[in-house]
Amino acid sequence: MTPKILFFIIFKFYILFSAKILLLQNQNQFFRKKTFKMKIALVGATGLVGGVMRKVLEERGFGNEKFIPAASVRSVGRQIEFAGKTYTMVSVEDAIEAAPDIAIFSAGSGPSLQYAPQFAAKGTVVIDNSSAWRSDPNIPLVVPEINGDVIKATDKIIANPNCSTIQMVMALCPLHKQYKIKRLVISTYQSVTGTGMKAVNQLMKERAGESCDKAYPYQIDMNLFPHGGTFEDNGYTTEEIKLVNETRKILRDNDIQVTATVARVPVTGGHAEAVNVEFYNEFELDEVFELLRNMPGVVVQDDPAHNIYPMPLWAKDKDEVFVGRIRRDFSQPRTLNLWVVGDNLRKGAATNAVQIAELIRDKYLK
Ligand code: A2P
Repeated sequence: MTPKILFFIIFKFYILFSAKILLLQNQNQFFRKKTFKMKIALVGATGLVGGVMRKVLEERGFGNEKFIPAASVRSVGRQIEFAGKTYTMVSVEDAIEAAPDIAIFSAGSGPSLQYAPQFAAKGTVVIDNSSAWRSDPNIPLVVPEINGDVIKATDKIIANPNCSTIQMVMALCPLHKQYKIKRLVISTYQSVTGTGMKAVNQLMKERAGESCDKAYPYQIDMNLFPHGGTFEDNGYTTEEIKLVNETRKILRDNDIQVTATVARVPVTGGHAEAVNVEFYNEFELDEVFELLRNMPGVVVQDDPAHNIYPMPLWAKDKDEVFVGRIRRDFSQPRTLNLWVVGDNLRKGAATNAVQIAELIRDKYLK
């Protein structure tokens, strides 16, 4: 056998062997992808947002994952529905012991501060809907369409932003990239669903003329108040401060100047926001419309001649953020007015959290 033929035979075996290894690897990966079942805990599963989270998880194909619903000790042993099956509620301690892949939290800041690190120590990735971790510089604050890339394989706690911030930055992100935002003046008209079950109950009972436990200091039906969260020493409320800090963190620009007034209104379908945006650079209105239309998750609803503008009535139960009343502010240069509406329980909370879970699953778990 000549050296040439010998070389040819060895080369042929090498190619066949490499191809076989590649095939086996791919088959393995394919098999793993097909059989991979996540373990998902939902802390606060009995709450208002928890209920929408169950719905969104089911809608987005998580119905067959291993599901662990947890809430306070009051709910342990209670039966709860998820994706057509009945589950028994467990304590948060038991959920930690089960070491799920992902734990989605919507139980308020106290339980998040207490339990998220315990889940993290078990290797679980926590997606937290409370404000507990949002301002921590080591914790990513994520709206997947905008800054999903900030999540690293080592991150074990990820913060879901405040509802009114999520819907606003969804509209602002493409405009900030193009014209660079200098200053925002925000007025919100926030749904009672943002305060949880007790607040919705208050509105409904007041409307029915019945007495009830109050979530707010005043009657909310036939009323509104400039008060969301609690008052700080500087005169702003915690909900207003969230709009300042979270907007800067998500848009990765600490120079953006933000001032906000939050009002609670007797509405249940979603939050509405009047946003006045001053840019560093000049814009054309046509281009603004185009940028907003091209932003995934944003729908432009702007046809004043036919009374078309975003409203909570239409945004309810939708995942998109609706933007309308798009117009130049003639009182100063390079300034725009927007009206932004979104269902605070969906994109403002549950949908955004489940999108983060999808990101983590696809990037780090599969
Ligand atoms: P529970 O129903 O057992 O009280 P909402 O925002 O609608 O008021 O819901 C709050 C959610 O947070 C509920 O699921 C509630 O459970 C849960 N929760 C409240 N306190 C705790 C706690 N200390 N540990 C775990 N879950 C809690």
